[in-house]
Parts: sequence; structure tokens; C-alpha cells
Amino acid sequence: MAPVAKRLEGKVAIITGGAGAIGATTAKLFLQHGAKVIIADVQDELGISLCKSLITKECATNNNNNIDYVHCDVTSEQDVKNAVDLAVSKYGHLDIMYNNAGTAGDNIKRPMENSTVQDFKRIFDVNVLGAFLGAKHAARVMVKAQRGGVILFTTSITSVIGGQAKPAYSASKHALVGLMKDLCVELGQHGIRANCIAPGGIATPMLNGWLKMEREGTEEILQSVGVLKGGVVKEEDVAEAAVYLSSDEGRFISGVNLVVDGGYSSTNASFAMIANVLKNNQTTNCIDA
Ligand SMILES: NC(=O)c1ccc[n+]([C@@H]2O[C@H](COP(=O)([O-])OP(=O)(O)OC[C@H]3O[C@@H](n4cnc5c(N)ncnc54)[C@H](O)[C@@H]3O)[C@@H](O)[C@H]2O)c1
Repeated sequence: MAPVAKRLEGKVAIITGGAGAIGATTAKLFLQHGAKVIIADVQDELGISLCKSLITKECATNNNNNIDYVHCDVTSEQDVKNAVDLAVSKYGHLDIMYNNAGTAGDNIKRPMENSTVQDFKRIFDVNVLGAFLGAKHAARVMVKAQRGGVILFTTSITSVIGGQAKPAYSASKHALVGLMKDLCVELGQHGIRANCIAPGGIATPMLNGWLKMEREGTEEILQSVGVLKGGVVKEEDVAEAAVYLSSDEGRFISGVNLVVDGGYSSTNASFAMIANVLKNNQTTNCIDA
């Protein structure tokens, strides 16, 4: 393979939900680009084993790991503060705060009339309060350090179009866009950028669990409804977007909700579906006649 240009050399990043599918893939790519990474999650066993698998031979022999795991429930301000303080105590600063932890609650697509207050609160606690706390503590150290920084959020195409998940989840992802836009303005004076990444459906445990399918089955469905043919959105596509937005190449990108869905949210498939059905019916009628 051609050597990868290290676009995050020397940067320090925290990734919440870093033990999950999108988070772990991003952590790996950040490391390949020279970043020092702290994975913050509640899945301790998974997070620790992920770290072990990502420690390079060179780092292990120097006893100087550039990847760490910290237990961090993003709904706890103390946990989020600890994660940010770990970055500063180990490396002296924090450059990238990727607020990626998320939950779809007890069921990704539940009709409004069956929704519960408890589920709504849980979704908002993890997806919105958790991201707010991540941004707050990142801002605390980034503003003080006066060396700029990047605050990222994982939203979803549910922050752009309706009908893809349940209302509480979509509302939480819209809320992140509002949070990001305000931070872009408020923190811009300190050279800190704020952006969101809005992935289309990806066959991670979150979506597979809802569909009760293995990865292959979910990907088949995603492929059939996709606009851009020739594949489906993968965790790697989100990770690449995160690298770009975190790197100096993206130095004037701020206030953006970057959609990574191969154009899925640019169209409304319902007209085309009905037109196709009508066309097929007309063809059948002609044949019958
Ligand atoms: N998979 C998709 O189709 C899709 C599409 C759009 C957006 N997203 C978003 O992408 C993000 C990552 O999801 P994923 O697909 O990798 O799913 P995932 O379930 O593999 O990862 C989510 C991670 O968040 C962690 N998490 C949950 N609650 C937490 C808490 N209170 N504190 C800390 N960590 C917590 C989980 O332990 C898990 O590791 C989420 O914000 C999700 O909403 C996913």
C-alpha cells in the first residue's frame, strides 16, 4: 500500500462512543494519520481490547502508547471532565473532540403513540446532553490553550429528512445541528471550528439490531434503496470525513452538517416508486390487451 500522508500528526483527539462501530473505525484512521487518541465509552471490555489491538509495535516497545481507553458515560459531567483532563495531563492539550456516542433508545423506529417519556429522556441525555458536555469541556481547555481546535458531532440523515427513525431520535440529531451552529459562531473567535457528520444508514450493530439482521442482510437493503450505486455507506466513509474536518485541509470548514449518504437524502424516492408501479401496471395492461 502507498504510505498514508499523516494529516493529523501531533493532534490529540477524544472520541466518545469510540468502542462502537463508527468510533472504533475513526480511532484507527486517526491513529494512522498520526493523532494521539483517547477512546471514551461505557463498553470497558471492548474499549480496552480495541486499544490493545491498535497499539503499534513501535509504541509498545517505547512504552509510549498513543491510544488510551477511559470509561466515560457521556451523561455524567464528571466522567466527561475526567476524559478531557486525561488528554491534557497526558499530552498537554486537546485538539479534536469528536462527540460520537449515541443511542437510538429502546427501539430505533417506534410510532409516536407508543413512545415513552423515559425513552425520550434517555435519547436526549446520551445524544444531546452528552454532546453538550463534551463540547463544554473541550471548549474549557481549548479556549484556555489558545491553539484552536475542532469539535465534531455525529448526527444522522435524520437531521436532514424525516421518516427514517423515530421522532425522539430525529429531534435529538436536529438538536445537535443547532448546538454545532451556535458553537461555530461563539468559538470561532478562538479559532475553534465546529462541524457535524450526518451518516446515512450503516450496517452497524445499532441498525442490524433494529432490523434483526446480520450485516450482509442490512447492506442488501441499504444497497437497494441507495441513490449512489456501487456500494453502501461504511464506517470508513464517516472516518474519512472526520479526518478531513479535523485536519488543516479543512481549516475553513465550520458550521457544516456534512451529509455522508451517497445522495440518499437528496431525493424523495416515493414518486419514483409510484411511477415505477404505474409503469409496470401499464405494461402489464398492454400485454393483457
Ligand atoms: N449506524 C447507523 O446507521 C448510523 C447512522 C447515522 C448516525 N449514526 C450515529 O453514529 C454514532 C455511532 O453509532 P454506531 O453506528 O457506531 O453504533 P454503535 O452502537 O456501534 O456505537 C455507539 C457507541 O456509543 C456508546 N455509548 C452509548 N451510550 C453511551 C454513553 N452514555 N456514554 C458513552 N458512550 C455511550 C456505545 O457504547 C457504543 O460504543 C451514533 O451517534 C449514531 O446515532 C449511526
